[in-house]
Amino acid sequence: MSLSPRVIAFLLAGLISALTAVFLTFVEGVTRSMLFVVAISSLIVSFFLILYTIEILVYREVNKMYKTIHKLRIKDFTISRSTLIKNNNPFKKLNDEIFVYVARKQKEIEELRRLEQFRREFLADVSHELKTPVFAAQGFIHTLIDGAVDDEKVRDKFLAKAAKSLDGLDALVKDLVALSQLETGEVKMHFEPVDLYQITLEVFEQLENTALARQTSLKIKTDQPGAVLVKADPQRITQVLTNLIENAIKYGNDGGKVLVSFETEKKHYNVLVRDNGPGIPPEHLNRIFERFYRVDKSRSKERGGTGLGLAIVKHILNAHKSKITVMSKPDKGTTFSFKLDKAE
Ligand SMILES: Nc1ncnc2c1ncn2[C@@H]1O[C@H](COP(=O)(O)OP(=O)(O)O)[C@@H](O)[C@H]1O
Ligand SMILES: [Mg+2]
Repeated sequence: MSLSPRVIAFLLAGLISALTAVFLTFVEGVTRSMLFVVAISSLIVSFFLILYTIEILVYREVNKMYKTIHKLRIKDFTISRSTLIKNNNPFKKLNDEIFVYVARKQKEIEELRRLEQFRREFLADVSHELKTPVFAAQGFIHTLIDGAVDDEKVRDKFLAKAAKSLDGLDALVKDLVALSQLETGEVKMHFEPVDLYQITLEVFEQLENTALARQTSLKIKTDQPGAVLVKADPQRITQVLTNLIENAIKYGNDGGKVLVSFETEKKHYNVLVRDNGPGIPPEHLNRIFERFYRVDKSRSKERGGTGLGLAIVKHILNAHKSKITVMSKPDKGTTFSFKLDKAE
């Protein structure tokens, strides 16, 4: 026999009526017919009272469940986990479990939607960025085929332009591959003791011609003589410094100054790359780390930028459990900084 609310109510009511009848047998002057009437009436009254009490409780919880579902429909996730664990009422527990489960699923759906949107935008951005150099190179080559090749001067100029476009395409594809590998976690960092001072000197050497073309001076400052040893992936950290120093030269002023400084702290080094260029307007500051975001589109492209440099920097530093920060004042210059753990 299953314990339905009615059966429970009937059993309890029977018990109450029997107890009442037994109690009344000890009272003087109570006749059998009186006992019978009392037992029957207490059975009926108790049965309905108990039944209604149970049903009211059940209905109340079911009603709460309904309200929860309604809340979820309108996406109100305001119940905290700690209040959920304390309760012993099985209805309430069930109710809360449904809430937590659906809330989690809803969040997963939102995250998937966000990723899908990201993927769609990324694809649109990439195709747009690829189109520019491909169409340019295509245009130059077709013009050459159509007869421009006969004029030596025009030929050399167009070939150089086509080559420049293709170099841009090459840089873009390389950056895209790097970014996608970093995003999917495909590249494993190889941490080892790295001398940032030495790496910076190498980057300066590599960018010597770029700096010379803009008469920009490149300097290093340390608060302690000797090597600046950090725990990092040498190849990736070189990429970070190259990106930041190259940006400082490219977006700085002609005849500007680029200073890389290392500040010693207890457990880490603070690395700062500073320029005295025109700076970045505040409204762009938190967007420059997004892929393909440029403050001045034409200037970035003219200087061979892919718009992916800072996004790559951000990812590499994330993988080093570090964060890049930027401070910039219009006309005063820009400083990018990050921390790296000292090598033991
Ligand atoms: N030192 C800097 N001074 C001024 N603007 C900067 C500096 N570094 C970066 N930026 C701005 O941030 C944008 C994004 O930089 P980045 O991701 O390296 O792309 P890219 O160099 O290919 O344009 C640049 O286009 C530029 O507008
Ligand atoms: Mg760059």
